[in-house]
This record gives sequence, structure tokens and C-alpha cells, in this order.
Amino acid sequence: MPDTVPDAVPAPLRIVRTPAELTAAVATWQRAGHRVGFVPTMGALHAGHLALVTTGLQHADKVAASIFVNPKQFGPTEDLDRYPRDEAGDAAKLASVGCELLYAPDVATMYPPGFASHVRVSELPDVLCGAARPGHFDGVATVVTKLLAAARADVAVFGEKDWQQLAIVRRMALDLDLGTRIIGGAIVRDTDGLALSSRNLYLSTDERRRAVALPQELAFAQGELRGGAPVGGVLAAAGERLLAAGFARVDYVALVDGERLTALDRLEPGARLLAAAWMGTTRLIDNLPV
Ligand code: PAF
Repeated sequence: MPDTVPDAVPAPLRIVRTPAELTAAVATWQRAGHRVGFVPTMGALHAGHLALVTTGLQHADKVAASIFVNPKQFGPTEDLDRYPRDEAGDAAKLASVGCELLYAPDVATMYPPGFASHVRVSELPDVLCGAARPGHFDGVATVVTKLLAAARADVAVFGEKDWQQLAIVRRMALDLDLGTRIIGGAIVRDTDGLALSSRNLYLSTDERRRAVALPQELAFAQGELRGGAPVGGVLAAAGERLLAAGFARVDYVALVDGERLTALDRLEPGARLLAAAWMGTTRLIDNLPV
């Protein structure tokens, strides 16, 4: 008899590569009485993604994830080619937190010759990150519709770090009767407060050190707003302090309604404070409730 109990062995991770295989695998779980959660990703997984799997397992019995670096959501000058890819490493990480199914299609499977359909949500994509990245959220809406339609999961989890994406996906899933409940997964932060992101890998040591100004300035602005300071002045001052801290450009610091993403000039229930700024050539985003 061994005198130690072996560590729990994670269930093996099955990898499927076509929508039909994903649909069949999820349906098999559901026929066996399981609730199924789904976590769409673009890979280069970090602890924030793994927390989405854990959140999925709080709402479902089985969790599937997808990895697909979606060309339709990258602009012509964006980082599609240098976006980090490590399927084997990602698969091991997913298995370690209890994900049992990985959907990893290639571009030709997702967008075969003749592909001609696109999903566009009105208004929500035109502001904030969408204003700086035209077409980005149409690419997101299109791929997420395809992923949710193929998975037909009971719930799907999207990170709150991309708050605008979460708002768009919620709207779309409701409008199009996609039948999957959308859940937001809390932002996971490094010990100094910087939100985890696959793009943090692009930062030099010096940029990484300076990047912490983003969560710090948002937290400071959050305190000011809660203390009753005028919204316009707080947002402008936060932008200036980000530039002074070494950000090359600030796309926006904004206070919006968390669901409709409309700009607010005073605090209201559900208000969200969001920012996007460039540290060198890397665009970082973050947000906080107010
Ligand atoms: O947030 C992401 O990683 C992507 O935008 C998503 C939702 C997987 C769609 O490609």
C-alpha cells in the first residue's frame, strides 16, 4: 500500500478540429445529463483564461474550450502574424484545470473558400476600442456566433477584461437566440495589479514595469469618481497621468453604462470605467466597476 495519496490525475483532453465533431461531443455530454460550459480563446493561455475554465466548471459539469486565432478580428496593421501560438502547451494547461475538450479548427475550416456571412451588432462596436479598431468587433461577433452555434453549450464564459467584447457578445447571444447563457469571468491580475493578457508577452522589462500605471490610474480615478469629483476632469487627468507614466498614446479613458456602453457624465448604477492605452507598440486595456 502506498503511504501517500497520488495527486488527482486530470481527465484526458480530447482535441477536435471540425464544428461537427464539437457539436457531437457536446451533445453526447448533454444526452448523458451533463451541463456543458464553453470557453472560447485565441490561445497563448495564461492564468486568466484558466480561471474562465474554473468559472465554467462552477456553472457546468463539463467544460470545452476553443483555440482559434481569428484573422477576421485583426486589422491589416495588427499583430495577427506575431500573435503567440502554442497549442501543445495550451492543451496541457487546459487539462490541468479540468477542461476535457478542446476545439482547435484551422482557418480553412472556419472560413472555407466562398465564406460570405458576417455578424454585426449595431452601435456597441462603434465606440471605445471599436472606434480605434474598425471591423474588429464584427470579426469577433462573426467568429463567436460560429463557435457558439457549433458548441451549443449551456453556458459560455468570456473574460471581463475585454468589457466591450463581453457586452457585445451578451447582446448578440440574446438577439440571435443562440441558446447559450453568457457569463463574465472576473479579471485576473498580476501581483502588481496589471491585468493578465496574452499581449503582455510583447512588453519589454521596462515597459512591463511602467504598464502598472494603467490599473493604478484607473483605481485612482475610481476613487475620485466615488468621492464625487466631476467626471470630465477625472477622465482627462487620468489620461494625462498615463502619458506621464510612459504610455505612448491613450486611446480612451471613459466612464460608460456597463451594458449599453454609452458615455456617462455622472455616476449611475452599473457604470464602468474603461481605458485603452499604448505601451510602446502594445495596446493594453483594463476596466473597473465604479
Ligand atoms: O477574447 C478573445 O480571446 C477573442 O476575442 C475570442 C472571444 C476568443 C474571439 O476570437
